[in-house]
Amino acid sequence: MISDRRLRWHVFWCRRKSDTKSRFLLELARTVARAPRVPDPPPLLEIGTRSGGSALLMLRVLNDVYPRGTRHPLLLTVDPYGTRPYEGSSSLYDERHYRAMKRNLAPYANHIHYMMDSTLFLQTLGAGLYLWIDGAKRPVDQFSLVYLDGSHDPAIVWSEIEQLSQRVVPGGFLIVDDTDWFGGQVRRRLEADAPRLGVRLRHNGKQTILER
Ligand SMILES: C[S@@+](CC[C@H](N)C(=O)[O-])C[C@H]1O[C@@H](n2cnc3c(N)ncnc32)[C@H](O)[C@@H]1O
Repeated sequence: MISDRRLRWHVFWCRRKSDTKSRFLLELARTVARAPRVPDPPPLLEIGTRSGGSALLMLRVLNDVYPRGTRHPLLLTVDPYGTRPYEGSSSLYDERHYRAMKRNLAPYANHIHYMMDSTLFLQTLGAGLYLWIDGAKRPVDQFSLVYLDGSHDPAIVWSEIEQLSQRVVPGGFLIVDDTDWFGGQVRRRLEADAPRLGVRLRHNGKQTILER
């Protein structure tokens, strides 16, 4: 098992590339290290990538957890960039962030970026997303970990949670960032609906972590 000290070291290398505070990045790193490890591991998914800081952390931890020479899980990231208006904040994410993301994540062949918002990604997923791997068409329909840090609009986040929580494998995690935004609407709804969604739930400051 990877030590907490080592995870902190990975956070140290990524924290300046992210706008997420170290203590929340550390929890993300711990969750990646604890996600189910099986021979043909399902991908991880991040919605909201900015400059790639949190994605870099996930890829570094995967590199550490999976032995060299074995197939590492894929990390799919989803972000439209394009100065999309950001609900609840004046932050804007444009080609500067896109360029930084490509630079930061370029060394990782197990990273795939989808240049679209989560609405279009979820439609594509629902219609039957697949990848070509080793000469065969492989469905992408389950994830070992999902990290939601895109739009914080409660309706958008809720639609992501509804659709993606069902696709997390048993023992896997769904982390929702900033559930305290918009008066904590998403947090309250999660607390009420956790049994129906079939997840255990805990909060770590502004993050809410669901385990299947
Ligand atoms: C707070 S930043 C993500 C920070 C990143 N996870 C990190 O810690 O380094 C939010 C990102 O979400 C993206 N975003 C905004 N609306 C989105 C949507 N509807 N679907 C996917 N991504 C979205 C923005 O373009 C921005 O890059």
